[in-house]
Amino acid sequence: MAEKDIIDLLLADHREFRELFPQLREASGKEREELFHYLVARLASHEAAEESVVHPALRDDVPGGEEVAISVLQEEADAEQLLHRMTKMEVDSDEFAAALGHLERDVLAHADHEERDEFPRIREHLDVTHRREMGRAFTTLRQSGPTRPHPRTPQAPEIRAAVGPMVGIFDRARDAARDAFKR
Ligand SMILES: [Fe+2]
Ligand SMILES: [Fe+2]
Repeated sequence: MAEKDIIDLLLADHREFRELFPQLREASGKEREELFHYLVARLASHEAAEESVVHPALRDDVPGGEEVAISVLQEEADAEQLLHRMTKMEVDSDEFAAALGHLERDVLAHADHEERDEFPRIREHLDVTHRREMGRAFTTLRQSGPTRPHPRTPQAPEIRAAVGPMVGIFDRARDAARDAFKR
């Protein structure tokens, strides 16, 4: 398989996040719960990968990158906190629906921010070989993650087993990313 540029892989994730939110809004009950667990797992590994390799490259190799790294990191920390609160909510509650709206705005604004201020700079200052090496590690990291539940055909036990418990999911994603990107 051809190696992919890490930035292309991260952009594909952003596209998926943009698609998942409307599906989450439409879904309810078990289906919404499964889609939400899948979204959390994907966001956890996505942000962990960005933290492990993209932010360090931004700080080290991109002039003025430090400032961008600090602001995107803050947005990621805010979204992570909101997600933690959401894992304790009943998915069909008004509280969850409100939090989901909030999360959608934050995650999509964050993705736009990265696409505008971060990814173009990474492409400009990091050579393609390096970006593809990162992409290979990211693909490996993703192979151990959950597959997307098909809308309207819930497969609860399998999905739950693949995602694992929600508690500590971001910490586990960070450990996995650290291993995957070790060079
Ligand atoms: Fe991010
Ligand atoms: Fe991102």
